[in-house]
Amino acid sequence: TVVEAGLKASALRVTKASSLKPLVPNQDLIFGHTFTDHMLTVEWKVEEGWAAPEIKPYQKLQLDPSAVVFHYSFECFEGMKAYKDKNGKIRLFRPEMNMARFNNSADRIALPQFDGNELLKLIKNYVKTESRWIPSERGYSLYLRPTMIGTQEYLGVNPSNRALLFVIASPVGPYYKTGFKAVSLYATTEYVRAWPNGTGANKVGGNYAIGIKPQLMATKQGYQQNLWLFGEDHQLTEVGTMNCFVLWKDDKGELELVTPPLDGSILPGVTRDSILGLAREWGKFKVSEKSVSMPQIKEAVKQGRMLEMFGAGTACIVSPIKKIGYLNEDLDIPLDPNDPNAQAGPWAKKFNDTIMDIQYGDLPHDWSVLV
Ligand code: COI
Repeated sequence: TVVEAGLKASALRVTKASSLKPLVPNQDLIFGHTFTDHMLTVEWKVEEGWAAPEIKPYQKLQLDPSAVVFHYSFECFEGMKAYKDKNGKIRLFRPEMNMARFNNSADRIALPQFDGNELLKLIKNYVKTESRWIPSERGYSLYLRPTMIGTQEYLGVNPSNRALLFVIASPVGPYYKTGFKAVSLYATTEYVRAWPNGTGANKVGGNYAIGIKPQLMATKQGYQQNLWLFGEDHQLTEVGTMNCFVLWKDDKGELELVTPPLDGSILPGVTRDSILGLAREWGKFKVSEKSVSMPQIKEAVKQGRMLEMFGAGTACIVSPIKKIGYLNEDLDIPLDPNDPNAQAGPWAKKFNDTIMDIQYGDLPHDWSVLV
């Protein structure tokens, strides 16, 4: 019997691009528009396991139209960033969390597992190869998109016996070029994103395609993003593609930071976990992972107990919320009580700035991993 090969970073083969693309000036960077000179790829076959990984010139994939990825959404991905610190050193932020989540997502759609330490070694090698693409200015980074697809050429609905793991990279700027810009949300009651024991906790492509129409409905009604709800009582789940946080005084008047629990329908965000970790370390308020409903939000707003709400994700870190349209009523969410022109509440800003300090190595922390 043949033993399937595990993913092995030491088997890496590197082919450098013969000519390099011109870099894009920082101020012209648009999220996810520009790609670097190389890509990382690893093929997998059920009979043989993982092939030798390759770093090679960035190029189009050749896939058969019958490949299962095109028919049954055998696709999962990760979002992470590489940062250049003041000393020119390259850093990643809690990358082991992305490796673990990537394996969980792959498992949910019956794609192969891999050794996360080995993929991390490969990603480190890849970001070193693309080092000139990592902007050194604070707020700028190289966004990494590890992806796995099922490539078997077959229309049967079965586990894919072929897979391709690839990583591409895109230099990105701060989500808000001129500082924070608080967003208005339309609370979606027409659709749900996920449900307990569904796939909401997995970063599978299918979770995102189904979010576009609700997003369009939100913008059509004059809001910037949609707020996902679940259940008869309209529990908050996520904000667009981000996790959701509420800072309020609870009904006993105690200061509390709330985010929905990881019950299987919530994406286990790295930024989410980092905010919870920092909040618990700071000890300035009660920290709760529990469900919170729109009627509770509405009551807190009306009673003046709402302090701040924000979304949290890798792309923007923290995204302050200023308004929620819910069942034909607009609820104003406070930003900074001391500054009528503020676009972020003081705690949203503090979480954002602290996480950035850690990511850029300005605040020493073991979440920041040197490459
Ligand atoms: C995030 O980092 O917040 C995301 O999930 C965005 C990504 C899907 C573009």
